[in-house]
Amino acid sequence: KSDMLVDSFGRQHTYLRISLTERCNLRCHYCMPSDGVDLTPNSSLLSSDEIIRVANLFVSSGVDKIRLTGGEPTIRKDIEDICSRLSNMEGLKSLGITTNGIVLARKLPKLREYGLNLLNISLDTLVPSKFEFMTRRKGHNKVLEAIDVAIDLGYNPVKVNCVIMRGINDDEICNFVELTKEKPINVRFIEFMPFDGNVWNVKKLVSYAEMFDIVTKRFEGVKRCQDHPSDTAKNFSIDGHRGTISFITSMTEHFCGGCNRLRLLADGNFKVCLFGPSEVSLRDPIRSGTDDDGLRDIIGAAVKRKKASHAGMFDIAKTANRPMIHIGG
Ligand code: GTP
Ligand code: 5AD
Ligand code: SF4
Repeated sequence: KSDMLVDSFGRQHTYLRISLTERCNLRCHYCMPSDGVDLTPNSSLLSSDEIIRVANLFVSSGVDKIRLTGGEPTIRKDIEDICSRLSNMEGLKSLGITTNGIVLARKLPKLREYGLNLLNISLDTLVPSKFEFMTRRKGHNKVLEAIDVAIDLGYNPVKVNCVIMRGINDDEICNFVELTKEKPINVRFIEFMPFDGNVWNVKKLVSYAEMFDIVTKRFEGVKRCQDHPSDTAKNFSIDGHRGTISFITSMTEHFCGGCNRLRLLADGNFKVCLFGPSEVSLRDPIRSGTDDDGLRDIIGAAVKRKKASHAGMFDIAKTANRPMIHIGG
């Protein structure tokens, strides 16, 4: 292990998020700009061999958790091959995916066999017509089916990511909590975050404080659990419920002090923070023949440039970044 992944604030980065594609089979407003996004040509996206080479550098320097993101990671044709090669890496303890669940029911058994052991499924509404409005596509029943398939396959917990937006789905918070009564799932209420093209506005943000108030007015026995220091979520159990709930408070109570996350984007850019424009290409040096030590130098220098925290929600909203669909969360 080297200090390549320790930043200038002493944070050790052990979690790498790898975006496998910029494409998606849904069109959620909060993620994909309504006028579309520029798609990187296929030849400029990392190949599976390139992804594995980069992942190896990270895992040999202390990364023990990788999460596949997108776009929608399950639509990448070679995902099974990528999963099995990643999960066989010495030193990697967990391999996860964050997916919209649309094609998951069919693909999950194989992915589980190939070593996928953490599963986060995005679902923002329990109302089918609202799902079509929010995602600009059909498929609500497929996502619900995917959640049940995941539970049956033994994923525990299945995490359900729910981005709450005022006037759209803030009326469903208690219905989502209700789901945790019978299902062994972890519903995570996420504060709406600004990204390029998603017309973020503070009025659409429903804060953690507000969401928590809504939940505790209706449910008794909501108890804070012990979180891992680098967890994005504040976790709670509820007396009598099989599942749990959480809040991801990126906007009103950031958790940057415990950040252990780095990102490899589908085009081969390395991004040290979810917010801010700072990125450096690993693809270009790879393709011009840079050896592993050269790549380690580039990665280490970028990590050392990482800021202590994001700049606050109003600054983030003004600063150029990419659309969420390119970053993968
Ligand atoms: P676990 O590994 O299960 O803890 O998942 P995760 O929260 O790391 O990842 P997921 O893809 O499920 O993301 C859930 C929400 O957390 C999304 O809205 C992400 O954008 C957000 N998120 C993930 N990583 C970070 C981060 O480093 N900083 C901030 N501010 N938000 C993040
Ligand atoms: N704000 C908060 N969370 C978001 N996600 C996508 N866009 C946003 C946003 N603007 C979530 C998705 C997915 C995860 C990767 O990030 O719902 O679960
Ligand atoms: Fe880490 Fe940046 Fe997220 Fe803060 S905003 S937790 S520094 S990735």
